[in-house]
Amino acid sequence: MERSQGEAKEPPNREGIAAIARCYQGFDPAMYLRYNYTPPRADFTRTDSIVPWKLACLHQAFTEGESHTLVDVGSGPTLYQVLSGCEVFGRVVLTDFLEANRRELQRWLAGEQGSFDWTPYLQHVCQLEGRRAFPLTFQLVLPIDVHQPCPLPPGSLPASGADCLVSSFCLESVSPDVASFTAALRRMGSLLRPGGHVLLIGALGESYYMAAPNVRIPVVPLDEAQVCSSLKVSGLSLLRLCVYTLPPDMRVGVDDVSGIFFVKARKP
Ligand SMILES: C[S@@+](CC[C@H](N)C(=O)[O-])C[C@H]1O[C@@H](n2cnc3c(N)ncnc32)[C@H](O)[C@@H]1O
Repeated sequence: MERSQGEAKEPPNREGIAAIARCYQGFDPAMYLRYNYTPPRADFTRTDSIVPWKLACLHQAFTEGESHTLVDVGSGPTLYQVLSGCEVFGRVVLTDFLEANRRELQRWLAGEQGSFDWTPYLQHVCQLEGRRAFPLTFQLVLPIDVHQPCPLPPGSLPASGADCLVSSFCLESVSPDVASFTAALRRMGSLLRPGGHVLLIGALGESYYMAAPNVRIPVVPLDEAQVCSSLKVSGLSLLRLCVYTLPPDMRVGVDDVSGIFFVKARKP
């Protein structure tokens, strides 16, 4: 029987996964935020800037109605990806592999001075949603490893699973190959209740990104067909796929990404 391209047909690439985990020890939250979450990539005066595109996709998907628990897989030092979910979900859980990133998020939640200024993001999402204030429902920042059979600490989620998962630029940047990406996606899907939704944002055609001035993290280059195939193999039904192509001035030398995909999928 012929297998689809995204199927995990080989044993897990433990060495590749461990090598990427070593690269992550050099991840600098402040530099990553500067590279990706300031202009031109986060220019709220432009509709063709990366961040406004992502926020519009998330706004549309989240306002289609959900319920209680939302889990963000591999939050990094960022929280833009759950902002539109805050009104819809009673409980929003942020997660990351690195202590440095979890600490960065906790600093912002605690209102510490010097933490990244998410105000323009909050204002932009308020504008998208036609409201003035934010119910910030995220409190928990948990450790996660998508390469483990149980990615989250035991008891973190209701027994039936989360109602919705969101994940941005995580799985392809922690996986040495497409098979590992697919296996991580399947494991992520195991956190979801039947009937729940996944919102996945990721890089297209990217082979590396910089996580600090001298820290180059390898990324598995994906195309749309591979993403669709991995979803199918992971037992997730594709509902929507949108693609953004980077304008030349968004190519700022911190990665070689050519596009971004946004997927909404459902666990049957
Ligand atoms: C490219 S960053 C994405 C951060 C953020 N979600 C965003 O949209 O910018 C990838 C994130 O994956 C996390 N990560 C690394 N290894 C991981 C693993 N095995 N399981 C889950 N997350 C991991 C890193 O710590 C990092 O925060």
